[in-house]
Amino acid sequence: MIERTLILLKPDAVQRSICGEVISRFERAGLKIVGMKMFWADRDFAKQHYAEHVEKKFYPGLEDMIVMGPVIAMALEGVEAIALVRKMCGATDPKSAAPGTIRGDYAQVSYEHADEKGIGVKNVIHASANPEDAKKEVALWFDDKELHSYKTVQEVHVFE
Ligand code: PPS
Repeated sequence: MIERTLILLKPDAVQRSICGEVISRFERAGLKIVGMKMFWADRDFAKQHYAEHVEKKFYPGLEDMIVMGPVIAMALEGVEAIALVRKMCGATDPKSAAPGTIRGDYAQVSYEHADEKGIGVKNVIHASANPEDAKKEVALWFDDKELHSYKTVQEVHVFE
């Protein structure tokens, strides 16, 4: 049940200086940071990350948004971490994201508005959608040597 998942604090989160606040939510929930780096994706890399969306109508705006500045990429580990992190992030469309979730608390623009303007949705965070995506995305963003094994106090409380 221990899973790894990828999150990206997107360029809008970095530019708004809210990364610390968002990261602390995951730490508070007991998730373990096993990889973390700042990385400025280029358009080729963006296409690899968003491969399944490249043909979609909204893709140009999504790509512009993810390459507009550096992101903070993190690999998080924990019990059923993939679903837990998605729940903490809230719906991808900020309009539908519940208050108390990361997007519900920090994002405003709706898909409808962004699509009408032809811009990307600045929804603060990306999180892997399922185990298959998590495996692929962690491997895309991190080399093995950038992922670390260690024990947190939280883990000691859960397992020992
Ligand atoms: S997910 O995470 O794959 O389940 O999310 P999904 O809802 O399929 O959307 C994938 C990413 O595309 C963005 N998106 C959109 N942007 C603009 N307009 C529209 N209509 C739209 N639909 C989806 C969405 O924010 C997701 O970005 P990430 O970075 O994965 O959160």
